[in-house]
Amino acid sequence: MKETLLKIHKHIVNGIKQIPDLLEEIDDLGVSQKASYRDLVTVADKKIEEHLKHSILEICPGHDFLGEESFDKNKNYDAKDLWIIDPIDGTSNFVKQGRDFCTMLSYFKDGEPLLSYVYDIKNDILYSSMKGSGVYKNDEKIIAPKDKSLKESLVSLDLRRMQRAKPELFDFLIQKSFSVRVIGSSGLDGIRVITGKLGAYVHYMSGAWDFSPFFLMASELGIAFTDLNGDSIKHTDHSSFIIACPSAHKEIIDFIERLYREK
Ligand code: IPD
Ligand code: CA
Ligand code: CA
Repeated sequence: MKETLLKIHKHIVNGIKQIPDLLEEIDDLGVSQKASYRDLVTVADKKIEEHLKHSILEICPGHDFLGEESFDKNKNYDAKDLWIIDPIDGTSNFVKQGRDFCTMLSYFKDGEPLLSYVYDIKNDILYSSMKGSGVYKNDEKIIAPKDKSLKESLVSLDLRRMQRAKPELFDFLIQKSFSVRVIGSSGLDGIRVITGKLGAYVHYMSGAWDFSPFFLMASELGIAFTDLNGDSIKHTDHSSFIIACPSAHKEIIDFIERLYREK
């Protein structure tokens, strides 16, 4: 099993590393809108998703995909072998700043996360994880981050949606943390928790592709990854999520529980 997984992993890393060349080939980004003028998609998003599917099928024929750019809300994604793809996470950053975007990819077998990737394309840094082998930043093994309280932690959160939907939680995170730093890419914000730079990242309602690598990466490092009730998330569901050091995570969940009790 481990050998097969390692073989797949090597093949996938090779496919991911072709992404910068793929971007180079694109003359016109062809930016268009999806659900709103703030929800962008480009030719690059679609091209990367297709490239990854093609690369995966070369070594894993018959596997299924839940990809952001081909997502069908009427399709059943309970496949035995499922890959979840966010081809460019942080498309607004990609279009408006040309930085702070990444590719996210994860493989689940019967719902269990076995392989996960966050590729910081611009800086050519690949964060990867294979079940039972820890988390790597390129070839360097990541040491589990030191536990931190909220007071000691820089935190990230989503701004507009959370402020509107969960104003008390929004204020709590801003007031109780050391300070706030927001990148605007769930993949790269989450990776900052994985690498110990942030103590917590909290996001209100995301697509399944926005957090798929964190199931495995968080569990490999003893980091908490749950929904806003402190419960586990189904990998194919859209959900709010918290990725955080255990102490900061407990403070956030305790606050949410108190809030519900008082309401
Ligand atoms: C978005 C980014 C952003 C988050 C949004 C996501 P996309 O992903 O991760 O940080 O706040 O909710 O939709 O659309 O650029 O792949
Ligand atoms: Ca995303
Ligand atoms: Ca995306």
